[in-house]
Amino acid sequence: MQTTTDIETTGHTCAAWHDVGEPDDFPDGAVWPVVVGGLPVAVFREGEGLYALYDLCTHGAAKLSDGYVEDGCVECPLHQGTFDIRTGAPCKAPVTEAVRTFPVRVVAGRVEVGV
Ligand code: FES
Repeated sequence: MQTTTDIETTGHTCAAWHDVGEPDDFPDGAVWPVVVGGLPVAVFREGEGLYALYDLCTHGAAKLSDGYVEDGCVECPLHQGTFDIRTGAPCKAPVTEAVRTFPVRVVAGRVEVGV
């Protein structure tokens, strides 16, 4: 559990930080859906890194939180296009447009997403 060191995984600015749980709520290699500031967000852990993407594929109406995570990418469950979970960049067709990213940090043992 990451409680001794606060981390921020991106340098993004945001309007507000929202608590989404404890670091242990997000197991390595998994994806979890949360609602942050009224927006659907998919939270990912890769090793010590935590990342957040808008939870809707840019190719169609599919939730990335229903996707499969492998090698730093999430595969959309509808047409198997993939996005880099760190940058939101498209990795594999038919996805051509990046998905929005959100900053993630851990403060005092709590995971926060900035929206
Ligand atoms: S809806 Fe995601 S790849 Fe088509």
